[in-house]
Amino acid sequence: MLFFFIQLFGADFITFKEYSKMLYENPRGISCKKCHGNDGGEQILGYYTKQGVKTPYIIPSIQNVGFERFKNSLLQYKDSKTIMPNYSLTDNEILALYNYIQQFNKGKK
Ligand code: HEC
Repeated sequence: MLFFFIQLFGADFITFKEYSKMLYENPRGISCKKCHGNDGGEQILGYYTKQGVKTPYIIPSIQNVGFERFKNSLLQYKDSKTIMPNYSLTDNEILALYNYIQQFNKGKK
């Protein structure tokens, strides 16, 4: 699969890594980075008040998510329970995003 990508992007003027970074930072409008940070690690997006207590809105780390789960969460239609938007990404885009985030996961597995 990786070989296929190298073939696909090898001749292009941007590298596969640059392409993946671009996808992560600006896919179809709303950047993953806005919510998941530079490296997909756990983020506190903001605070809200729950029964009078200041509570952080925590976005979980996506660095250790397996590929199947990663893919499913991007393909599945989101209901109003989550603030994460729906994206219409292709399989290749999802794989590129997954690989991009995995580079931050080195040594943590
Ligand atoms: C508006 C904020 C927001 C944006 C933008 C966003 N996410 Fe998320 N994401 C979340 C939140 C919040 C969760 C936690 C689970 C939930 O509420 O669905 C989440 C969960 C996930 C999960 C599942 C984690 C798990 O443990 O199963 C993955 C994978 C993911 N996001 C990837 C992405 C990618 C890739 C992008 C860009 C294409 C993106 N997200 C854009 C807010 C966002």
